[in-house]
Amino acid sequence: IFAFHRQEAGPVRFVESFGGWVVTRYSEVDRVLTEHAVFSSDELRHSTQPIPHSSNPLLRGLQAMDPPRHHVLRRIVSQVFTPRAVSALEPVITARVHALLADAGESFDLIGEVAYPLAVHTIAGLLGVQPSRWPDFARWTEAITSFFGTFAADEARRTAFHQATTEMGDYFREEFERPAGVIATLMASGLTEDELIDFCALLLINGHETTKTLLANAVLCLVSQPKPADLRLAVEEVLRYLPPTGGTDRFVTRPTTLGGHELRPGQRVVAMITAANRDPEVFPDPHTFDPDRAPNPHLSFGHGIHFCLGAHLARMEVRIALAALFERSWRITDLDTRRTPVGIDVLEVTLAARPREAV
Ligand code: HEM
Repeated sequence: IFAFHRQEAGPVRFVESFGGWVVTRYSEVDRVLTEHAVFSSDELRHSTQPIPHSSNPLLRGLQAMDPPRHHVLRRIVSQVFTPRAVSALEPVITARVHALLADAGESFDLIGEVAYPLAVHTIAGLLGVQPSRWPDFARWTEAITSFFGTFAADEARRTAFHQATTEMGDYFREEFERPAGVIATLMASGLTEDELIDFCALLLINGHETTKTLLANAVLCLVSQPKPADLRLAVEEVLRYLPPTGGTDRFVTRPTTLGGHELRPGQRVVAMITAANRDPEVFPDPHTFDPDRAPNPHLSFGHGIHFCLGAHLARMEVRIALAALFERSWRITDLDTRRTPVGIDVLEVTLAARPREAV
């Protein structure tokens, strides 16, 4: 991801090893995200490359659909993600954050003991599924996302992926027997069982992995800062500076020109959110973390018809968790980046029960 971060090699370029166009300048990234008729999200339909992961629920879900189907489905699911519905969760999330911090004690792994359980419990509660199954959610998510990101997956990964999608499908079918939460709403709106499974899988995967990463990234960005004057602005700046999603793929539907290059139908285009967020033409002093930055038109939740459905929820969860952390003083005592190429696995944090300003 960070190799594609820099714009020096040009705002749009073809990367052979990757088999597609990499787009790094804000204006072009924004165009790729918003011109959905030219840059399709439907890989199964528009990609000319072989697709090793065609049974992936993420490839059939909302995020991989184009209009008109996208429009129909998005309208249904938007009903359950309104800002008002999400704000109604604020007291529950606040109580959970305080309970998790109380249980965690003075020195704890922020990811394993706070960020992960917070994100999983919130999305599980919203969906109406059992949070106690979270070790399974985590295993399925890892198997599905790690397979998704590879073009030549080995046999072990392939097996883990198939096992995960089967287990996840079976699990959701069981949940459909006693529908609650979002699942009950969606079942009442006439989605087929397969559509429901794909959508639940998308929510479960998108809903916790990215939020967990955002909270961890926020702690990394803010550890050496005083409490930000406005936590909302600070969360936006964390999103800009260290976005949990590095980039997103599209597929060219018709001949077009982008950044002076001719693109052909079927070609893959990756819109690099990380790079667009640091475009000096849009963000003054882009490599500086400025918790008061405003305006901050980052693209970390995408833009256009696929704008993140969970953006309000993710922002709120992270803001509440940061507010609770800043009621104490804290520092990072350990950081483990060994296991994952995209993030951190263990973030040991030590708290002191004194106001931060007094330390
Ligand atoms: C779409 C990022 C949290 C559900 C997206 C997209 C991005 C994104 C970049 C657009 C993808 C594209 O255009 O190809 C993030 C980040 C999050 C986050 C950075 C946390 C910090 C969540 C949460 C949920 C969620 C908490 C669910 C509760 C979705 C869904 C879509 C989506 C369903 C697809 C929307 C559509 O295609 O219409 N997200 N997301 N996300 N996100 Fe999120």
